[in-house]
Amino acid sequence: MSDNEITGTTAVVTGASRGFGRGIATALSKAGAQVVGVARDRAPLEELRAELGESFTAVSADAADPTVAGQLTDAYRPGILVLNAGATPLPRPIQHHTWQTFSRNWDTDVAHVFHWTREALLAPLAPGSAVIALSSGAALFGSPLSGGYAGAKATIRWLTSYAAAESDRGGLGIRFVSVLPQLTPATALGAAYVDAYAAREGMDTAAFLARSGPAVTPEHVGRAIVDLTGPGYDQEAYLLTAAGLRPLPGPSAPPGATQPE
Ligand SMILES: NC(=O)c1ccc[n+]([C@@H]2O[C@H](COP(=O)([O-])OP(=O)(O)OC[C@H]3O[C@@H](n4cnc5c(N)ncnc54)[C@H](OP(=O)(O)O)[C@@H]3O)[C@@H](O)[C@H]2O)c1
Repeated sequence: MSDNEITGTTAVVTGASRGFGRGIATALSKAGAQVVGVARDRAPLEELRAELGESFTAVSADAADPTVAGQLTDAYRPGILVLNAGATPLPRPIQHHTWQTFSRNWDTDVAHVFHWTREALLAPLAPGSAVIALSSGAALFGSPLSGGYAGAKATIRWLTSYAAAESDRGGLGIRFVSVLPQLTPATALGAAYVDAYAAREGMDTAAFLARSGPAVTPEHVGRAIVDLTGPGYDQEAYLLTAAGLRPLPGPSAPPGATQPE
């Protein structure tokens, strides 16, 4: 969608109150969408409402609750659905995780993408709708201090590509795409990990960041999400760095290939 086409479209953004989600909600609002922002803590959502005005509706709810996914899908039938909410895993080596801390991102990030994706397919959302899920560069490169995070984010990429296939098979015209941002210190979640990886390598954070190159910001992510709703972005997954979006080859098996379970 161009900014013109976004005008008046309803966009639901999960995890809209802070970090990337706030950047995404702001960019979509400025492009003309009516944005419904979901997060649990009401105060930062209300601050965003004060900033964005009537183009933003604050919904304080747990996005990983399947009832919330069903109710909000029925109520808003979004033309743009951004599945961004994510838990911050405990930054520790694997042997210092318990099963509960290891699986934290499965219970929030994956569960919410699963529930909302299912609702989008079953509703179904209108042809031309876009469902964009936040995976992570960790899905490609690993993330040895964050328990099950990298696997959870890889599953989000898979889930999104399965949904794209179901949309095609059913002729639904809903576009499903995942975005894999590079680790950045620009959000609460990312900053905790930049510090942890720097400490693990015995570096100070500034030296670690200098080696990593320019950082992704919430504004970059917001712009990228607006771009992804437009023409010319027909891949199922994109890596996102400060240089922009780079298409990734689809994770799907070649047609006819038999995969072992
Ligand atoms: N920052 C990075 O370096 C990086 C890199 C790659 C991918 N990502 C992914 O990008 C997404 C956003 O990350 P971020 O860095 O912006 O994180 P963040 O600053 O910690 O913000 C997380 C947002 O998600 C919300 N949230 C968490 N659990 C929720 C739930 N159960 N229901 C509703 N909202 C929930 C939070 O609000 P409440 O706590 O009030 O609910 C907050 O608005 C995540 O999926 C993350 O894994 C981040």
